[in-house]
Amino acid sequence: MKKIIIEGNKILSGKIKIGGAKNSVVALIPAAIMAKGKVKITNVPNISDKDALLEILKLLNVDVQKSSNTIEIDATNVKNCLIPENLSNKLRASYYFMGALLSRFKKVEMYFPGGCNIGSRPIDLHLKGFESLGAKITKEGSKYIIEAENLQGTNIFLDFASVGATVNIMIAATMATGTTKIYNAAREAEICNIAELLNNMGANIIGAGTDEITIEGVKELHSAEIKVIPDRIEAGTYIIMGALLGENLIIEGMIPEHNIVLLNKLQEMGVNFKIQNHKMILNKSSNLKPTNIRTVVYPGFPTDLGQPIAVLLTQANGVSLFEETIWENRMGHVKYLNMMGANIIAERQHAKIIGPTKLHGAEITATDLRAGAALVTAGLIAEGTTIINDAEHILRGYERIIKKLSSVGANIKIVEV
Ligand code: UD1
Repeated sequence: MKKIIIEGNKILSGKIKIGGAKNSVVALIPAAIMAKGKVKITNVPNISDKDALLEILKLLNVDVQKSSNTIEIDATNVKNCLIPENLSNKLRASYYFMGALLSRFKKVEMYFPGGCNIGSRPIDLHLKGFESLGAKITKEGSKYIIEAENLQGTNIFLDFASVGATVNIMIAATMATGTTKIYNAAREAEICNIAELLNNMGANIIGAGTDEITIEGVKELHSAEIKVIPDRIEAGTYIIMGALLGENLIIEGMIPEHNIVLLNKLQEMGVNFKIQNHKMILNKSSNLKPTNIRTVVYPGFPTDLGQPIAVLLTQANGVSLFEETIWENRMGHVKYLNMMGANIIAERQHAKIIGPTKLHGAEITATDLRAGAALVTAGLIAEGTTIINDAEHILRGYERIIKKLSSVGANIKIVEV
């Protein structure tokens, strides 16, 4: 087990560079195996979710060349084999191999994916999408067998604008016969990045980033290159840290438009920040106003920043109300923030955060990736020592977090126990 240890209450000053988006790269890697030729992905973040996907590629006999933040994937000799459950279980995004292998081989066998324990996380919308494209699905225990003689383009209406289902259907439809239209598609910035790679590979996709995506099937895909967009959730997390502890803290290499709703909220709270092209400069604010936050699908307030921003709300002068509408189990951080001195009353998907409260160090546990990010944020503002158990969750999505925070003045380390 890994533990993060923080001596809190240190000013953060200097530059933090944002890495490539986790939620993009975890789809770009599986999508790359559909090409007959090399796919080069640049600005790849150094996160453990990426490592888990590369392990899967090895198993599928895909050639991978790595150098610093670039990977080159050559799936010319890819084999369609069952990914062992202990591998697909390591992360949610392993389900993108369903769409990619189905598209390339017209058959895939895969176990239910893993990922953070933040809700029941069904994949019914993905499966319904594959079925609409003509696939037949059978289930043996937790294993799905998905096969199609021919994938045929069609109209698909998603009951919910699911990110995963939108991407998986887009991937599966890329080489289907005829036209597929996805209605009520998710609009996340990462979806545009994934569509861009598929188009660079020869696909014909329009409308990514809107709620209606049209995919004109093509016969095959070829070599291509893509740059991973900056991670808006990583950026948002460091922005929140800067609002609490910044002294000219510069967050660089981000796209402010991708965080517009967060920035509006911070403005409403009285956070001191400036935006200059692809960077932000933050200074600690002493008189934060409370606010109400409701997480919703993109471009609304992102569920993935709901936990980190809870820490900022503990420092606001008054009562803030928070509602999580996407995941039913995303309050894993609350118990630990309260152990550190916060005053949060949470029930199911609602929380009332009463501030301001001084936080003090404690031994706490990261229950999932973004809860872990919230606990790191809390540890940074707390008086004394904070020990965060199960820190592996955090490394799934925050590249070199210890190095990045240490370089701007945090007293933080990670130990293996
Ligand atoms: C993605 C992100 C995750 C983020 C989430 C919502 C990745 C790798 N992860 O997760 O960080 O928190 O979007 O912004 O990109 N649902 C169904 N049936 C399905 C699929 C989803 O009912 O087949 C429900 C889920 O239970 C959840 C909601 O739809 O309540 C959103 O899920 P979805 O957008 O699919 O999230 P993920 O793609 O898993």
